[in-house]
Formats: sequence, structure tokens, C-alpha cells
Amino acid sequence: MEKYLINPNQKIAEISKDIYGNFSEHLGRCIYEGLFVGKNSDIPNVNGMRIDVVNALREMRLPVLRWPGGCFADEYHWKDGIGDPAGRKKMINTHWGGVVEDNSFGTHEFFELIDQLGCDAYIAGNVGSGTVREMSEWIEYITFDGTSPMADLRKANGREKPWKLKYFGVGNENWGCGGNMDPYYYANTYRRYQTYVRNYAGNDRIFKIACGPNAEDYNWTDELMKTAGRHMDGLALHYYTVTNDWGKKGSATQFSDDEYYRCLRKAYHIDEVIRRHLEIMNRHDPSKRVKLIVDEWGTWHDVEPGTNPGFLYQQNAMRDAIVAGMSLNIFNKHADRIRMCNIAQTINVLQSVALTDGADMVLTPTYYIFKMYKAHQNNTLLGSYITSPETGTDGERVPSLTESASEDANGVIYSTVTNTDMTRAAEIKCQVADSAVKSVKAEIVTGKADAYNTFENKNAVGCAEFTDFVKTEDGFTAKLPACSVVRFTIER
Ligand code: AHR
Repeated sequence: MEKYLINPNQKIAEISKDIYGNFSEHLGRCIYEGLFVGKNSDIPNVNGMRIDVVNALREMRLPVLRWPGGCFADEYHWKDGIGDPAGRKKMINTHWGGVVEDNSFGTHEFFELIDQLGCDAYIAGNVGSGTVREMSEWIEYITFDGTSPMADLRKANGREKPWKLKYFGVGNENWGCGGNMDPYYYANTYRRYQTYVRNYAGNDRIFKIACGPNAEDYNWTDELMKTAGRHMDGLALHYYTVTNDWGKKGSATQFSDDEYYRCLRKAYHIDEVIRRHLEIMNRHDPSKRVKLIVDEWGTWHDVEPGTNPGFLYQQNAMRDAIVAGMSLNIFNKHADRIRMCNIAQTINVLQSVALTDGADMVLTPTYYIFKMYKAHQNNTLLGSYITSPETGTDGERVPSLTESASEDANGVIYSTVTNTDMTRAAEIKCQVADSAVKSVKAEIVTGKADAYNTFENKNAVGCAEFTDFVKTEDGFTAKLPACSVVRFTIER
């Protein structure tokens, strides 16, 4: 029986709700078809936004959405996406499939979506191929409530009041698709561009995010923090879980036991990557003012057979749900430094929460993890620890259990536990320090590692009540099925 200790006396930090954010790029069928179908579509929509998808994301309590990229961001010229849609420029989406981008989803449409979702906006600006002026004017267009060339243009385009822009990213992956810069060059370029990201909304300041490292590029973090740390509010890390290698990543639904555990091992590795970046950030910024942002994360598998390789459309199995559960537990545990995370990418691209086919929509196992974990949003992270023997195959080893625990304003504790073992249930004994536990409730997402939802069978993996536990004086004992993620709600 594994021991699980939760200590409500140890209140660590607030878990920012924005850790549960998503990312949506002009890539494949994420924006077009996935989120936006246009007002004239037969697919039920409000002002062009899919009703089914918007409702699902609201139900998941999506707190923040990143847009328009990704690599697309550094080729996006926002003025091409305003005004009468019929007159908007058509361009080639060079990064993603070479398809025509007709700019019918632009700034006004994005904020309409944000409004319908009831979430916050995170926009990534164009450094790679855009000018300082272009970036500066976009901020003015979005946020200035007065008379100015850009505010007047916004009004002429039908929007009187400015919008609320919470986060702004100064470029994306500028070490790669965003301009192939070295860290020193980018750090200075960042300093220049961010100067003109003005706070037109007064005290409602924009949270400025610098392009951070690719996975284990610790030198990038060091250079950025040294040269530009005092000009930023956040530094954005990207970390993707690729089971095998970039050439042959592996299938989303057909994998060996080794590949199952390899995928989880690589996903779990993000904890070490985060720790090492944080050590560097702590050296430059011991007060922890600058936050770590993980604005692209998730599994990246081979595309589904027969689909456009540039569209990054992949299925999503129970294995992905375990990756999500583990990763979100890890992010929660770093709540003192991590302000926002954005899984890539919302709909129809990479590790998405929903897939669409025409008017049809199916929720993925990953969706149910986000829905279950929403209980942590804005709670206080508590000290907690679980014994977790390794499991896996001879070649691939991972911790069998991961967890995080938080407390809401009423003192209710939420604990989320993953059992990564493919075949063995895990018995755990949970004790909540100095507490008389009144009641315990639980929910579970579980299934065979390769189980997934299809348009024909939408409920192969879902969320259900979990009852295989016994309440004790100060906690509970439980038997977690193989390959499962469970959320416990503990009232004292
Ligand atoms: O999410 C897909 C791509 O991955 C993004 O466009 C880019 O930022 C990253 O390389």
C-alpha cells in the first residue's frame, strides 16, 4: 500500500487558473472548422463560432486562449485580418500545409471567441517578419480607449470599446521559425520591441512574455534572463512529448508497451526541465518576479493516416490523458513560478481536447482530464507527497504514481492522482494531516492505454464516479485501476 500524505498546514502558492490554458493556431483545422466556421455555415454557430465547441470549452472552464501561433504568429500581419472579410488579403500559410489563409478569422473574430468562451486573451506578436511599429499599433488598436489612429480604425471597423488583453508574447520560437535568432540577438530585439508594447489601459497592465527556450536549451534561459529579465513578466518554455524521434514519432493509437512507457517517461521529464530552468531563473531573479510560462506542451504523434501531414491531426488515447494528468500535476507543483500553460492545440491539432468532423464533435480523453482538474483553478497548492515505486518495461521506467493537492476558499481539498501502470492497480492510503475527514467523493478517467473516442463511439473514454475507496478518520484508502487518473474531493 503506497502512502499519500497531504498537509493542509503547508500552503505553498496559488495555482493560477491559467495553468489550464489552451493554444490555438492558424494550423490545419484548429481555427477554421474547429473553432470558427463563419456566420453562413450550416454548422450551428453564433457569429461564426461553433456552438458545440464553445459550450464544451466553457464546460471545461477554459481560462485563457493563446493565438494566432505558433510559427504562424511571426508571419501574421494583423492588418490583413481586419475590415470587411470579403476584402481581406489572401495569403499562403507557408508553415502549415501551404494552404490559402483568407484572413476571415482576425482580431475582431478572436475577441468575439474570447467573449463567448468567457476567458482571457493571450496574443503572440510578430517579431520574425514584422516591425516594431506594426506590433505597437496592434496593441493600440486592441487596447486604447480614446482618440488615436488605431483606436479610430477599430471604431470604424465596428468596435467602439477596446478589448482586454491580458497577455502578450513578443514573438514565438525566435530561436527557430520566428527568425532563427541566437539568444543574445533575440534578448536585445525583445528589449526593443517590448518598449512599444504600451499600457494604453493604464493600471490594467499587459503581462509581457518573452520567447523562452526550446526544451533543454538552458543557455537560452540564462542569456535571456541576464540581458532582458528586467523587461519581462514571463518567459515562455516549449516542451513537446515525442515518443520516438521527430522523424518517426509513433502512432497516437497503436503502440507497444515500451512506447507507452517511453511516451510517459518523456512527458515526465518536463519536471526536470522545469526545475533546471527555474534554477537559472532563481539565480537572476531570486524574488521570482518573472514567471515561467509553458505556452506549448503536449504529445506530438504521427498524423492520422491519410491526413495532410502539414495539418498535425492526431487521435488522442488514454495514454494522452495520463500525460495530461501527470503534466498538470507537475505544473501545479510549480505554482509559485508557473503562471500559465497552454496545451497544443485546442481542436483538431496535436493533443487537442476535441476533434471535429463537419458538424460532428467528439471530446478526447485529454478533455476529461482538464474538466476534472478545473477544480484546482485558483486554489492554494498544498504540501503533499506520495510514495511511488517505478513501473514500466525493462527499458522504460516511470514513477507509478503522480499527484497534486489543493485547497479551495472553503477548505475543501482536491487531490488528483495518476496511476501510470498499464496493467496493475495501485493501492494507496491517504492521510490528511491534523484533519478529521467528513466525506470523500471521487471521479475517474480510465481505460486501456490505447482506448480512444471516435465519431462512431464517443464514450469509449469518459469521466465517471469512482467508488473503490474507503473513508478513514483522517483520509481514505483506495484502489486505483491501472492506467487511470482520479480526482478526490475531501471535506473536513
Ligand atoms: O504547435 C505546433 C508548432 O510547434 C508551433 O507552431 C510552433 O511554435 C512549435 O514548433
